[in-house]
Amino acid sequence: MRLRDCHNFSDFRELARRRLPGPIFHYIDGAADDEVTYRRNTEAYATCDLVPSVLAGVENIDMSTTFMGLPLDLPFFLSPTALQRLFHHGGERAVGSAAQKYGTLFGISSLATVSIEEIGATVSTPKMFQLYVHKDKGLNFSMIDRCKQAGFDALVLTVDTIVGGNRERDLRTGFTTPIRLSPKSVLSFVRHPAWTFNHFGRERFELSNLKDYVTEGSNVSISVARYFDTMLDQSMDWKDAEEIARYWGGPFALKGVMSAADARHAVDIGATGIMVSNHGGRQLDGSRSPFDQLAEIVDAVDGEADVVCDGGIQRGTHVLKALSVGAKACSGGRAYLYALAAAGQPGVERALELMRTEIERDMKLMGCRSVGELGRDNLRFR
Ligand code: LAC
Repeated sequence: MRLRDCHNFSDFRELARRRLPGPIFHYIDGAADDEVTYRRNTEAYATCDLVPSVLAGVENIDMSTTFMGLPLDLPFFLSPTALQRLFHHGGERAVGSAAQKYGTLFGISSLATVSIEEIGATVSTPKMFQLYVHKDKGLNFSMIDRCKQAGFDALVLTVDTIVGGNRERDLRTGFTTPIRLSPKSVLSFVRHPAWTFNHFGRERFELSNLKDYVTEGSNVSISVARYFDTMLDQSMDWKDAEEIARYWGGPFALKGVMSAADARHAVDIGATGIMVSNHGGRQLDGSRSPFDQLAEIVDAVDGEADVVCDGGIQRGTHVLKALSVGAKACSGGRAYLYALAAAGQPGVERALELMRTEIERDMKLMGCRSVGELGRDNLRFR
């Protein structure tokens, strides 16, 4: 199986499964508890159907949108995700370059493996930084300062990782960063020599934006769930979020909002964006899906902030359904991470190309010339 054999999300997932050692694949692929919410995130899009219009003159259509004032050539962007050089040695550099080629937004995580400064200097597409609030307040504000200096366009505060989710696949495989070779995992590394060579033979793995403050993750192996449990500030509240928004002073979103009341609260503390997300089902299993919650959040926010539907997106039609409900754009993590793991930058570019082509084809079949024409009128729930 090669990259050119990948025609959809499942194909990229399969190629990633073949290329990655088991513990790494299951870290991306896994979610919390029974993974019910993870599955629901995609299944939710099948609860409604699109109602197309015809004879609309769709030779030239406009797929562009904006999120918090940032221009996007297509209504889908690459959510910030952690540890990308672990999945492919191209890491955040590959993802950023692919996003730039397709004129869309991308984000890096506080747990990124390339520095804020390097991404700022090398990637010109709109960039967001995903802040995890650590107990070390100095670290939080220093990351924000670095983002300002490096010309990041938006700050997104993650609010759904107050403790680590129960990711049982990681418990079984013993997944940590940096990778710890155990008798159990060593076989899967031996069986994937290309990955193992690239990971251990190239640039040293690190959490570039944290390593000067904390040794966990860069020098001391730790699981992601334990990192969340021990390093992040569980006392974080609305006052802290407001302080961060004010300190940043630019486009600011909360990622991981699931209730209408919280979305309203977010607007009141100065958020200009709401990313409706349950962290890809990796945190609270049994919580609702972003698409199921979208309408009430869009209604509660009432145009005072841009709403993004993050999670479960595998198809252009999923994007069209979320836009019809009222999202300004959609975003995803696994939607490009499998492709990154499968083939680096060309993989992410292919995933974006397929998504772009699907959105374009689907808009034409919907009789829709610009994303603003999509509305609840063209959607029916079963
Ligand atoms: C995760 C974090 C790191 O879900 O985003 O694993």
